[in-house]
Amino acid sequence: MKSHAIVSGIRATGKLHIGNYLGALKQFVDLQNKGDSHCYFFIADLHALTTPFEPKELQQNTLEVVAEYLAAGIDPKKSTFFLQNQVHQHSELAWIFNCITPLGELERMTQYKDKTEQHRTNTNAGLLTYPSLMAADILLYKPIFVPVGDDQTQHLELARIIARKFNNRFGKTFPEPKNITMKPLRIMSLTDPARKMSKSEPNGCLFLDDEPEAIASKLKKAVTATDSKHGSPGVDNLLLLLSYFGNEDQLDSFKKAAKDGSIKFSELKQILADRLSEHFAEFRKRKKDLLSDKNNLAEILADGAKRAKAVASETMIEVKQKVGLL
Ligand code: ADP
Ligand code: TRP
Repeated sequence: MKSHAIVSGIRATGKLHIGNYLGALKQFVDLQNKGDSHCYFFIADLHALTTPFEPKELQQNTLEVVAEYLAAGIDPKKSTFFLQNQVHQHSELAWIFNCITPLGELERMTQYKDKTEQHRTNTNAGLLTYPSLMAADILLYKPIFVPVGDDQTQHLELARIIARKFNNRFGKTFPEPKNITMKPLRIMSLTDPARKMSKSEPNGCLFLDDEPEAIASKLKKAVTATDSKHGSPGVDNLLLLLSYFGNEDQLDSFKKAAKDGSIKFSELKQILADRLSEHFAEFRKRKKDLLSDKNNLAEILADGAKRAKAVASETMIEVKQKVGLL
């Protein structure tokens, strides 16, 4: 029996790397496979419009991310998997939320402050109202839990504030969903292990669909420098990856070698490259197969949108009635 709903989304801003995989996607798949909740997972394509984009690239990125979600184990039979823009109730509820959300709550969001700083010449109102769309994404499905990384906890907190405001003003409608704290995991950049792996610095990323040669060549160049204050964050990062993809004996022996200074970086890199290439071989193949049949992808998304709409439209009827919209 599925007793509750779980909702989460990911921005369609580019191919996924191993940080996105371990920090988010894999945890979604695990939640889905536990089987005790209705899982709603969507690609937040409307959110992707808030920062500079090119239409052709957006389309391509969205398709790739859809294929990657599916290739990594999101199963459209087990989860309701869809594109945000194909369920128009998200935008509709976001507007109503905009009208009950104090401006000050939006202006204090750290992501808004950071992004307006980053995109000074192209700051748009969507960047400011981003959290009310996110609140709509969530509350339409009345979930108990929302798995998000620590960069999104402030937005989730605002979704709870919006739910409370709506309930106080119009009568109890929405739950106040909690974060399922995803493992606080930070995979670091290969080229600069002081910073997190991020698609804004592609050279430091291991992308999930990287071919074995690319994996090996990126790992070969991975920074392993040691200093007396920080040890070697680069080696720690490689060992962290090995803890996910290697076997225990390998991990133990490299950890020991790192401690006593006998570690051979090239060996560690080679073994990790082999493990990663092997682990994601099936993923690479499935992604290619999925992308070669665009009609099939469109059907999967249409079916997901239909199932999401069945729930979202019920919520909208209730909301409109309570707000006094005819
Ligand atoms: P990026 O920094 O590559 O643009 P996003 O900000 O789009 O990644 O993050 C998407 C999801 O992946 C979020 O849930 C985030 O917490 C997770 N994530 C991103 N980078 C990492 C990382 N290096 N290590 C662990 N999780 C990460
Ligand atoms: N804002 C999230 C991010 O940047 C993506 C997102 C949009 C989301 N709507 C959501 C996450 C609803 C969880 C629930 O990563």
